[in-house]
Amino acid sequence: MITHFSQLQLQTVSIQGVKQFYHDQLRFPVVYESDVEIWFQPTESFTLSFTEAAEPLVPVHFAFEVPYSEFENAVHWLQSTGNITLLKWSDGRMIDDFETGKNVYFRDGDGNLLEIIAHHYITEGILPASGELKILYLREVGFPVDSVTDFRELLVELFNFSLDKVYENFTFAIGGTAHAVITSKKRKWIPIAMTALSPTMNIIFGTSSSDFMEEVKTKLTAKGIHHESTEVGQLHFRLNGYSFYLKLTNFPANMPALLNLPYSKLPKHS
Ligand SMILES: [Fe+2]
Repeated sequence: MITHFSQLQLQTVSIQGVKQFYHDQLRFPVVYESDVEIWFQPTESFTLSFTEAAEPLVPVHFAFEVPYSEFENAVHWLQSTGNITLLKWSDGRMIDDFETGKNVYFRDGDGNLLEIIAHHYITEGILPASGELKILYLREVGFPVDSVTDFRELLVELFNFSLDKVYENFTFAIGGTAHAVITSKKRKWIPIAMTALSPTMNIIFGTSSSDFMEEVKTKLTAKGIHHESTEVGQLHFRLNGYSFYLKLTNFPANMPALLNLPYSKLPKHS
């Protein structure tokens, strides 16, 4: 199974610009930096990196999960920086309090739409809560597509993903802690009605099983989807114009169940 998002590689037109936001403001540790690339390590298991690109940027939507008990602190901390604008819903509120949790949105200097989200069902104290925002893991990456139905079916077939909030123009496709937010390009991103375009990005999924990786290879071959092994324990392929990697990592396979994620529940013992 896919356990988590291991890395998200985005494009930027200014390495210094993203450094000033993600390191100086959000305090993400920098683990690698060159003139054309920078890597941040918001948690032990997730890397956010930016590569310099000489082309127009398309904003990406991604969301970090924080413990429910830390959500208010995270919001206050964001506000206390004095430089981060929390985005408003049309009625003026900034925090959305929904059935299973709370969230808040803001943007980086490149226009990427970031979200801090917390769910009350997540067991706390299992994964370390990292940095000033107390981030547990990267929960969501947004995938605007022409056909939500086709893309979600592909992800289910290839990765055994579970689906939630299944609509014609929106779906969560879930593997472990990773939630692919599949949205129609005709549906705008909340809460600021931001046009959903397809960004250029590399999405690196983690898996703890080489058998699973072999299964994915077999399925890709059967579907005629080109794939290549880029290094030991790493597989690369493209789906719907998005560049994906599958990587063997040490992220525990039982972590999503330990966190009490709804689609990764441990079997009940009688
Ligand atoms: Fe989101």
